[in-house]
Amino acid sequence: MLLAHLSDPHLDAGALAAGPAQALHTALGRLLGLVPTPDAVVITGDLVEHGDPAQYAILRELLSDVPLPVYLVAGNHDDSHALRATFAGSPHLAGGDSTHYAVDLPDARLLVLDSAVPGSGAGQLGAEQLVWLQAELAAHLSTPALLALHHPPTRVGVPFLDTMGLRDADALAHVVQRHPQVMRVLAGHVHRTTTAAFAGTVAMTAPSTWRRSALDMSSPGRMGYLDEPAGVLLHQLDERTGGLCLTHALPVQGGAPLFSIPR
Ligand SMILES: [Fe+2]
Repeated sequence: MLLAHLSDPHLDAGALAAGPAQALHTALGRLLGLVPTPDAVVITGDLVEHGDPAQYAILRELLSDVPLPVYLVAGNHDDSHALRATFAGSPHLAGGDSTHYAVDLPDARLLVLDSAVPGSGAGQLGAEQLVWLQAELAAHLSTPALLALHHPPTRVGVPFLDTMGLRDADALAHVVQRHPQVMRVLAGHVHRTTTAAFAGTVAMTAPSTWRRSALDMSSPGRMGYLDEPAGVLLHQLDERTGGLCLTHALPVQGGAPLFSIPR
């Protein structure tokens, strides 16, 4: 099982649409150059810049040509209602109309959670989703699980971001630590690659396909961006890894699109 993990494309509309749209297109094209191609793709939130229906329409157009299953996660820049209005019933929300859902991948399950809180940069899952997650994990104890949400469940060492983290991370940890089949917690929000131990598993953030954040570890810090190469993560879990989950970090800039998406 190969799951590609992209994040924070921040698609815009109007005069500023081209940059982030080209960046996401290039990252998706990079995946088509892999042998084999991934079984699925997850994009861990901040799909668009302002949760605007016109921006989701651009996302839908970009994904329409991608010959891979692509699953969407809501972030703090997203509007869950507008996201559902565009993608409900489509494969990008697993055919349903909820922003938390389960997907059966080869040899693993992907469990998508919605940590967006309207009007806030911080994240929260809430009791309803945590009860759902607990039930999903309890019902599939022997199947490896990958959780995907926007807000990382740990501090990331960047004070600016740690002031808008996942509020109920402790409650999530309580569920995860009782289910050792959770192989990864996949997140975004940071616009950089990070790795941390979390509740007996490994939490990782994927870099933004659009802009990489400056690594400002001062306090209070500020959000700046660097022209570093974009990248994607590739999580591998199969007989080649002996049942372990192994993560490959793939730079994108300059490496794609060797295999462009047909249009
Ligand atoms: Fe973001």
